[in-house]
Amino acid sequence: MDTDAREPGRSGAAERTDEDAARHDEAMRAASAFGPVGVIGAGAMGAGIAQVAAAAGHEVVLVDVVPGASGGAVEKIGAALTRLADKGRMRADDAAAVLARITPAESLEDLPNCGLVIEAVPEELELKRRIFAELADRQPATTVLATNTSSIDIDDIAADVSDPERVLGLHFFNPPPVMALVEVVHGERTAPAYVEHAAALVAAWGKTPVRCSSTPGFIVNRVARPFYGEAQRVVEAGIADAATVDWILRERGGFPMGPLELTDFIGQDVNLAVGTSVWEQTGRDERYAPTAFQRELVAAGRLGRKSGRGVYAYAADGSVEGGEPDIELAGRLVGGPVATDPLARTLAMLVNEAVDLVARGEASADDVDTAMRLGTRYPKGPIEWGRELGLDVVASWIAELDRAYPGGRYRPSPALTDGSLA
Ligand SMILES: NC(=O)c1ccc[n+]([C@@H]2O[C@H](COP(=O)([O-])OP(=O)(O)OC[C@H]3O[C@@H](n4cnc5c(N)ncnc54)[C@H](O)[C@@H]3O)[C@@H](O)[C@H]2O)c1
Repeated sequence: MDTDAREPGRSGAAERTDEDAARHDEAMRAASAFGPVGVIGAGAMGAGIAQVAAAAGHEVVLVDVVPGASGGAVEKIGAALTRLADKGRMRADDAAAVLARITPAESLEDLPNCGLVIEAVPEELELKRRIFAELADRQPATTVLATNTSSIDIDDIAADVSDPERVLGLHFFNPPPVMALVEVVHGERTAPAYVEHAAALVAAWGKTPVRCSSTPGFIVNRVARPFYGEAQRVVEAGIADAATVDWILRERGGFPMGPLELTDFIGQDVNLAVGTSVWEQTGRDERYAPTAFQRELVAAGRLGRKSGRGVYAYAADGSVEGGEPDIELAGRLVGGPVATDPLARTLAMLVNEAVDLVARGEASADDVDTAMRLGTRYPKGPIEWGRELGLDVVASWIAELDRAYPGGRYRPSPALTDGSLA
């Protein structure tokens, strides 16, 4: 991941032209007219979101109930801004101004009337529901109330809010100052005008908004499931070892990381939890069933890089021990029967998942492709990829997989063959 990315809205150079200065001043005026932004929870995500909003010119109040936590987060943001200034990525006076716009606080009572409040507390429904009920009582009726949840249904979070039309998801990716993507998630009761308002706002912050409904996993965490699941199943079935599967996806598929090394990086426990959440929320749809392979890794404490061992073993300096790909085997598998071709299996299932999401009306094809390119750095959007491969070809691959592995996981989306996405 490019942790050296530029501050949003900056040209990259520490010096500004007159035109840059005029644009900057206009952005600051617009942000100040919008009003303050409240951020609830000063952990990894809340602190990053506070930095992004302040960089875009908003006064930000960052609330955390743990004494000292929001003050500590503001100090860390200050250090990050100083690093950016030292590298010449932003002007030192701008860095100081951004920091000065963030006020730490320890209670929702300390929030001024805000244009927007973004909640980024731990992923617990009851906690979030309580915070939204309190925010709805304390904040003016026009304040947009957003949650950064990764997986909880927006309507459930808004359950105790009397005017849920202003509640939506703003799902930032980690780390927020670097990652361009924001999923703007609407619940059943969110008013479209608030969705557009929030999308325009995050676009003004230099982010790329994509819109989707509150479907399990939203776009990125839903469509990415088979990227991991197919690789795990290929290894589980003894078709190829992990290093060979990763090599195929990287070298022949163009993915920045192979799926198995990526799960070691994310953490097997974290990746399993996301997959399990999508599986539970889809009524335990076979398509998302966690693999025994991954459950056993987690049960054995093989959580990935953070525990020194996951799919691979890691030396103290972080290098992978062993894990040589079998290039000759890879050459035989790719382009062979779909059931044993890790690349074809993965692509077919990614395309199918993406097409299904669009066919259910949960997001547009363009937004799905944008989300996957920016959120996961796939080399192409899955819908574009499917069109290149031929949607009917993808349907035939999935039918072939269903014959090889019956049981309901491999179901071609009707939209692959009905012409709606051609
Ligand atoms: N970490 C990620 O990669 C990531 C990415 C996208 C979305 N998310 C989502 O963002 C949210 C926050 O995740 P995180 O990783 O920043 O968590 P975190 O644990 O790092 O931070 C949560 C913070 O909230 C504070 N908090 C707890 N109860 C509070 C309350 N009642 N009021 C105010 N603050 C309170 C905690 O003290 C903590 O500082 C979660 O919903 C998570 O699913 C996380």
